[in-house]
Amino acid sequence: MDAPEAMDRLREARAEGLAMIEAAASLEDLRAAEVAALGRKAPVSEVQRSLGALDPADRPAVGQAVNRLFEELREAVAGCREALEAEAEADVAVADRIDVTLPGRRPPPGGLHPLTSTLRRVVDAFVSLGYRVSEGPEIETEWYNFDALNFPPDHPARLTQDTLYPDVPGRDDLLLRTHTSPVQIRTMEAQEPPIYVVIPGRCYRRDTPDAIHLPVFQQVEILAVDEGLTLADMKGTLEAFARAVFGPEQRVRIYPDYFPFVEPGAGVDVSCFLCGGVGCRVCGAGWIEIMGAGMVHPALFENTGVDPERYSGFAAGVGIERVAMLRQGVPDIRMYYEGDVRFLSQLARSA
Ligand code: PHE
Repeated sequence: MDAPEAMDRLREARAEGLAMIEAAASLEDLRAAEVAALGRKAPVSEVQRSLGALDPADRPAVGQAVNRLFEELREAVAGCREALEAEAEADVAVADRIDVTLPGRRPPPGGLHPLTSTLRRVVDAFVSLGYRVSEGPEIETEWYNFDALNFPPDHPARLTQDTLYPDVPGRDDLLLRTHTSPVQIRTMEAQEPPIYVVIPGRCYRRDTPDAIHLPVFQQVEILAVDEGLTLADMKGTLEAFARAVFGPEQRVRIYPDYFPFVEPGAGVDVSCFLCGGVGCRVCGAGWIEIMGAGMVHPALFENTGVDPERYSGFAAGVGIERVAMLRQGVPDIRMYYEGDVRFLSQLARSA
């Protein structure tokens, strides 16, 4: 091979090599093109190996042309590799793309438990009359739950048949409160009249569950102590409560009933909100028994240091489950505690 031949081979090698490199569509293709254009068997390498056979005068020029071609081909490979790598990266980004244009799956909206919304409605009825919320412990002493409320020592409510006594070593005076009335005592001990409090809370009784009984239930109690309060104030207050909770047309009637901590004591009926008080399947004769109430017994004032000559008061207590069952038309109290979402969401829509 002479110098012009060598230069021809280099021109061909250049054209072929660049064409192969540029044609590479993948990194794998490019590696094959690199071997073919620059490897040991590539035309440019053959020319390099034959340099020694050339006329010494021609060697520098041909040698430089060989080096330039190597350089040019390497640069072409590098440029092409960069482009292919960028493309591969873009492909990965496309493959990994997450489509966020869909609306997504909405979790079902939560809502208040129907007993919670009922409790709030009852509490709000009194808060809107100016009452403040007061709370007490669920584990009570015999004193607050019974004695201070004027229950005689042998009152049947104290029996273990009715009251749940927790097993606390060294304490035989503790019980699970059977009503929210002990908070009447705690409130009168803690503050001076005028007192207007509304007391929500969980209560416990040793009852076998049935359609209208559960061993755990909720009450809302009210206590008002001020100068000059009478039975008329009590009735007006309970009427306001009945209207707020059962409907603007409601009336209440009171009749004598007995609780040791009130004198006189009263049962409270609300006019039936289904038939308007004329009588129907739910109420019977037009009235629904709803709560206990009465004028605060002087013994409670004595037990808490309130002056009975100066102050009088009234109290009332209502069962939240009973109010909810009446308002929501639920026939069995146990349904509230079974956690069936179909039942709960049906009531949440109507509550
Ligand atoms: N504590 C009574 C009960 O649980 C209800 C009540 C409260 C009655 C206040 C009169 C006054 O049955």
